[in-house]
Amino acid sequence: MRDVKENAVWYEHIKTCKQSGARLGIVHTPHGSFETPVFMPVGTQATVKTMSPEEVKAMGADIILSNTYHLWLRPGEKIVEKAGGLHKFMNWNGSILTDSGGFQVFSLSDFRKIEEEGVHFKNHLSGEKLFLSPEKAMHIQNSLGSDIMMAFDECPDFNHDYKYIRQSVERTSRWAERCLEAHKNPKTQSIFGIVQGAGYNDLREQSAKDLVSMDFPGYAIGGLSVGEPKHEMYRVLEHVTPLLPANKARYLMGVGSPDALFEGVLRGIDMFDCVLPTRIARNGTCMISEGRVVIKNAKYAEDFGPLDPECSCYCCKNYTRAYLRHLFKADEVFGARLATTHNIHFLIDMMKNIRQAIMEDRLLDYKEEFFEKYGLNKE
Ligand code: GUN
Ligand code: ZN
Repeated sequence: MRDVKENAVWYEHIKTCKQSGARLGIVHTPHGSFETPVFMPVGTQATVKTMSPEEVKAMGADIILSNTYHLWLRPGEKIVEKAGGLHKFMNWNGSILTDSGGFQVFSLSDFRKIEEEGVHFKNHLSGEKLFLSPEKAMHIQNSLGSDIMMAFDECPDFNHDYKYIRQSVERTSRWAERCLEAHKNPKTQSIFGIVQGAGYNDLREQSAKDLVSMDFPGYAIGGLSVGEPKHEMYRVLEHVTPLLPANKARYLMGVGSPDALFEGVLRGIDMFDCVLPTRIARNGTCMISEGRVVIKNAKYAEDFGPLDPECSCYCCKNYTRAYLRHLFKADEVFGARLATTHNIHFLIDMMKNIRQAIMEDRLLDYKEEFFEKYGLNKE
């Protein structure tokens, strides 16, 4: 396979697991490289909630995700640009991927009107009327200076009818062309295209074909993990990943539960992101080697063992379940910090083990070992 090195961001294939077909690779960006398959912690508002960038880095993260939509509304991309770009603004010198705002306009705004030119919607903070277009989304991401910018897409409801999804896919392809056209910094930033098409195989195919012909440096699969049954998501992945070029990175958007991460990797996905580990941590739910733990539960009141005996994170090395439970019961912010530390560490460690297993051609064995303990019905 030939590596495509002429872009700011490029994928280097290391090996394919002989037992499972999963991919091991390295994605190179202007702010360093990261090994794939990778889980990207989410820092929506230029911060991974409750964590310092140094802590996120120390957990082994080399790339985080942030959001065009939120930073555009607050503090505004011009302020971030004046600060020297997002890396400098938030003091994170690893890689950054920014989502385009396409998804957030759909998930956060109660009013929106989609036109060929772009999307009219209401600011979810102030109610003010706003407009986002492919050009505007690229312009903002150019100002933020993220390494990987996402194309401006429509993420339609999975249950829309065929005709709607067909028109939406066609519009997303036209928007993708406009994104490439509007991109000002191809030497220092790369755009990934986003395949849409809901549950329709032929529309997914059309979307993949359109985007592949535009020769993006990487491809995301969007419109999934939006409430559809998991077997539907896996079916779409099986159909789409073989259509994407093997020498470019593939990113499944919005996925972060252990079972879906394994299933995505087994279907050829390299990159994932999700608010799940950080969001559930803040209400006291932790993912440990034996499944999920709701730490406020009374049964942990006098449990003086670590949250996860198999974990080497700062939380598990230094604190007990009883202490964590107390912090959550007393509404102390340190509890959220400790639980977030553990959950991010847990997923990053799991992905590290997945990469090791691919290296050793035993990913299916590792999956079995993992779920024997974790339990398949706990997600
Ligand atoms: N995040 C999760 N799904 C999607 C999607 O389909 N499009 C975009 N832009 N972001 C997402
Ligand atoms: Zn831990």
